[in-house]
Amino acid sequence: MEKAFSGIDIEARFEHARDVIREAGKRAMEYYEGDAADLAIETKTNALDMVSIADKNVEAIIRDRIGDAFPEDGFLGEEMGIEKGDNDCLWVIDPIDGTACFVNQMPTWCISVALMIGKEAVIGLIYHPCNDELFSAVIGDGARVNGEPAKASSAKRVSDGVMGIGMSHRLPSSSIVPVIGQLLDEEGMFIRNGSCALMMAYASAGRLIGYYEPHINPWDCMAGIVLMREAGGWCNDFLDLPNVLEDGGPILAAGPNVAKHLADMIGISYRG
Ligand code: IPD
Ligand code: CA
Ligand code: CA
Repeated sequence: MEKAFSGIDIEARFEHARDVIREAGKRAMEYYEGDAADLAIETKTNALDMVSIADKNVEAIIRDRIGDAFPEDGFLGEEMGIEKGDNDCLWVIDPIDGTACFVNQMPTWCISVALMIGKEAVIGLIYHPCNDELFSAVIGDGARVNGEPAKASSAKRVSDGVMGIGMSHRLPSSSIVPVIGQLLDEEGMFIRNGSCALMMAYASAGRLIGYYEPHINPWDCMAGIVLMREAGGWCNDFLDLPNVLEDGGPILAAGPNVAKHLADMIGISYRG
């Protein structure tokens, strides 16, 4: 876990954030299991782009609890935006990823918390409360599921497993339809469970051969990037994309043996 991030205690932050994400998950579950009519849902741009009172309150819990322990750190969260800190640490938070599932009583939603130091993502935590599964990774220390080592898929062809695919209305259908066509033509298959972060977590545990979404925001994928790389998988250089914290960009994560093939298929630059 030793890396040169001078003066920043990554291990202490990891341990604290691991407790916080479970606590946030407990609160989110209370909303999920409560009366759906009490959720106060607002739509942002369309019926799939929504936010509930749970999203806002869960983000507030995470920011408050991490901020109490590390007051000098900054935050970027989907619901509350950016708040710069007094050091190079930036916590990147999606309080509920898969809100459309959450508000419609489907269990594929999760909480995603990552820590960036400068331009590097160093901690990734994704908690899936309905399954009580915590996917965790610290740079240089491997990836884990509930404490047990996690490994990305060793699939050699796309037909050896299932690919996670994400899509929103931020881009036209033409940005995803050809990719799905090529995957099927190679006897591959895809799944979209409504949560980018959860599908990336599954890819880091080798359950999916990879994950692709033509446009994603940093809070959806930052923890997944750390998890995937620490699990021996490959991700595109998402953090090198221009203005990525503001504008987002494409994400491709894949097992090491199919990564180049998928990158070529999709048209994403591959550096092994
Ligand atoms: C969405 C989910 C979805 C992905 C979208 C995201 P939200 O986040 O991750 O799977 O395809 O691009 O916006 O709105 O549920 O937090
Ligand atoms: Ca999200
Ligand atoms: Ca969200």
